[in-house]
Amino acid sequence: MPAAREVPVQLTVNGARRAATVPARTLLVHFLRDHLRLTGTHVGCDTTQCGACTVALDGVAVKSCTVLAAQADGHEITTIEGLAIPGEGALDPVQQAFQDEHALQCGYCTPGMVMAIRQLIADHPNPAEDEVRHALSGNICRCTGYQNIVAAALRAAQPAAAQGATQPAADHAAEPPAGPAATQRAVANAAEPPVAESLHDNRTAGKREG
Ligand code: FES
Ligand code: FES
Repeated sequence: MPAAREVPVQLTVNGARRAATVPARTLLVHFLRDHLRLTGTHVGCDTTQCGACTVALDGVAVKSCTVLAAQADGHEITTIEGLAIPGEGALDPVQQAFQDEHALQCGYCTPGMVMAIRQLIADHPNPAEDEVRHALSGNICRCTGYQNIVAAALRAAQPAAAQGATQPAADHAAEPPAGPAATQRAVANAAEPPVAESLHDNRTAGKREG
């Protein structure tokens, strides 16, 4: 059997340039976890159902199990590790809201939930409860702690709404975009438009079953 084709991949992850040569079939989530040891991004299904693998790609939440590392070449990734650096300041507002609302049990879904909620607040600074629930429809909590997760999302959105802000949190890695329109413009200007378009087909909402 011939050896798997390998490709060089260079990304900016949480503000740092990272490079590796990996098999072409390597998923972004496995690149993050296995090559960069950023294990805060979880794998719950590998089939785009659970949202545990959600990260921000150029400021847009995507499920990293549906993106090849090679597709993300040249792009910026923010993982849960990029939101609050130990010893260097406060938690991201969404993380703080999770703490305040006791919005996690085992915590396996939490990184993906946090990344999805940051995207929601970036798009809708003052979401209603039904908008929160819809935005999280692509994220599964197997502990079924949805009530407190929704409460945390609504709490995290309060400062953004009060300030008229369009971004939910200070991001140590990169400034999130103003919203989907800005993101689409940024992506349209990217070096590889067909790849970027396919990446944004992997946005997080709307895939939960059962
Ligand atoms: Fe990616 Fe479940 S591991 S959606
Ligand atoms: Fe356990 Fe959500 S807190 S899966």
